[in-house]
Amino acid sequence: MLEKIYKAAEFIESIIKYPPDIGMITGTGLGNLTGRMIVDNRIAYKDIPYFPVSTVIGHDGFLVAGTISRKRVLAMEGRFHLYEGYSPSEITFPIRIMKKLGAKYLFISSAAGGFNPMFKAGDLMVVDDHINFTGIDPLTGPNLDEFGPRFLDMSRVYDPGLILIAKNNAMKLEIDLKQGVYMGITGPCLETPSEVRFMRMLGADAVGMSTVHEVIVAKHCGLKIMAIVVITDMDLPDCMEEVKVEKVIKIAKAASPLLSALWESVIKELP
Ligand code: HPA
Repeated sequence: MLEKIYKAAEFIESIIKYPPDIGMITGTGLGNLTGRMIVDNRIAYKDIPYFPVSTVIGHDGFLVAGTISRKRVLAMEGRFHLYEGYSPSEITFPIRIMKKLGAKYLFISSAAGGFNPMFKAGDLMVVDDHINFTGIDPLTGPNLDEFGPRFLDMSRVYDPGLILIAKNNAMKLEIDLKQGVYMGITGPCLETPSEVRFMRMLGADAVGMSTVHEVIVAKHCGLKIMAIVVITDMDLPDCMEEVKVEKVIKIAKAASPLLSALWESVIKELP
């Protein structure tokens, strides 16, 4: 595993001009977040040794290196999901590469279904905690001591300082930023009304099919994490509406400029 990480990192290092400060992952329909970047390189996943290749509609497959507000960014356009059949170690493979290349932050986005009745489709939610409901911890198996400890403290996964900056800047940008707990599931099934009641009871405000594994591995290797999800549909158990993937992508795309503006404003304030 280590050797694969090092080989892939070496390949990327030989192409990009400078080490990244920030690793970024953009979710369903949110690929154009990298539209705000001054792009130096676009590297196809298929060209990177040992890198998985993404298969879903709405997901591109490029690693994009460049700058946003003069901060150096390495962004994944397209990511890997359990429901596609990838293993947790494949899903999180790029995170350790980001770390190896020098990143200190991970900015991560995804589409999510909202449970909290105060939310509405199109809202942004900054994640302040998560529930890994996928049934698997991506750190199972031999520990990579070079990256982090065997038993990972999870008391404060999402960086409180970054959350605060995001909330302050949202106010300045007149974005009604919500805050809450993200529950990660495997998918590809969406939730039944009874599952939604159950998840809500556990304390989740939103649910999605990504993010938690990448975040755990990022925390393991000491990255400062900020996650903002787009609420693409509301899952209200007593009046459930059918979730259509086209609508999820459409809402995510519509929210994408707002999210980009917010991310950029946070990036500007990083040291
Ligand atoms: N459930 C799970 N994942 C999702 C949803 C949802 O309602 N919407 C977007 N991703």
